[in-house]
Amino acid sequence: MDPVKPRPTPRLVEVGPRDGLQNEKGLIPLDAKVAFVDALSETGLQEIEAGSFVNPKAVPQMANSEQVFARIKRKPGVLYSALVPNELGLDLALACKADKISVFTAASETFNQKNIKASIKDSIERFRPVVLRTRQAKLPIRGYVSTAFWCPFEGQVKPEKVVEVVKMLSGIGVTEFSIGDTIGKASPDEVRKLLFLLCKAVPKDSIFLHFHNTFGRAVANSIVAWKTFGITGFDASTGGVGGCPYAPGASGNVATEALVSAFKAAGSDTGIDEAKLKAAAVGLFKHLGRPVGARPPK
Ligand code: HMG
Ligand code: MG
Repeated sequence: MDPVKPRPTPRLVEVGPRDGLQNEKGLIPLDAKVAFVDALSETGLQEIEAGSFVNPKAVPQMANSEQVFARIKRKPGVLYSALVPNELGLDLALACKADKISVFTAASETFNQKNIKASIKDSIERFRPVVLRTRQAKLPIRGYVSTAFWCPFEGQVKPEKVVEVVKMLSGIGVTEFSIGDTIGKASPDEVRKLLFLLCKAVPKDSIFLHFHNTFGRAVANSIVAWKTFGITGFDASTGGVGGCPYAPGASGNVATEALVSAFKAAGSDTGIDEAKLKAAAVGLFKHLGRPVGARPPK
């Protein structure tokens, strides 16, 4: 590929209000969550994962997602999506008028068992009616594949396994795939190896990359995916907030403002306002009681 040829404009999905905030130990006031989503809505982002409908005992920080959806100011043109693990979650998300639904499985069995108490195969069966009903409701559907490079329990994950799980999701009607580097350990070469196979299995535009930034490689990995394979879908979290409650040691997603800045430096304007993202992060971190970008205490 020509190294300086312009690439298509990246599409960023903001996952801070869900992936970011789900990992906070202290209670975040509802007003602060709503203000965070509202501030993000004004940045030029076109998609915001505003919450999840999971067992509140498993992830207490998401227990008030219903109220978040009810109180946010929806900006026309912005999609407000919700993460759900089963039909009960879907019922709640539909009642809240979520604009898009995401289901989530993994490429490693141990992680999936700990996260959603199911084997990969059983989780796909659990999602079958969720996907069907989402499509009947004419809403877009995304499927996450966690531990797509490394698993905190099983070590390195084979790219072939990820492709297999993506095909299973595709087989039940999922049309967008978010490929998770859950513990932020992937290297650019590992990203290349996986994308080399994955781009042959599903359309490039259906692939989103979901990099956590534990080892500081998330921006480099994103640029490699974009430059080398023309991948344009990336998840990110403003202020780099977050982690995963079921992945010990995982840090937050790559910061949205870092990706916006890196793509701009590489010649592509995402249309997202970096200064407004930073202001949204400042507003949020005031409630988290630590400086913007700092990780939560262990
Ligand atoms: P289970 O225990 O097998 O579920 O958990 P169950 O059906 O036996 O129900 C147990 C209890 O949960 C019941 O309540 C249900 O009503 C309730 P009880 O009778 O004990 O009072 N329940 C629910 N409540 C609200 N909404 C629901 C729901 N479902 C059941 N949807 C289950 C299975 C999947 C539900 C559970 O393990 C769970 O909720 N897990 C969530 C895990 C999670 O949210 N993890 C973080 C998100 S994934 C992630 O961060 C990775 C990602 O970012 C990508 C990456 O970085 O790799 C996406
Ligand atoms: Mg994540």
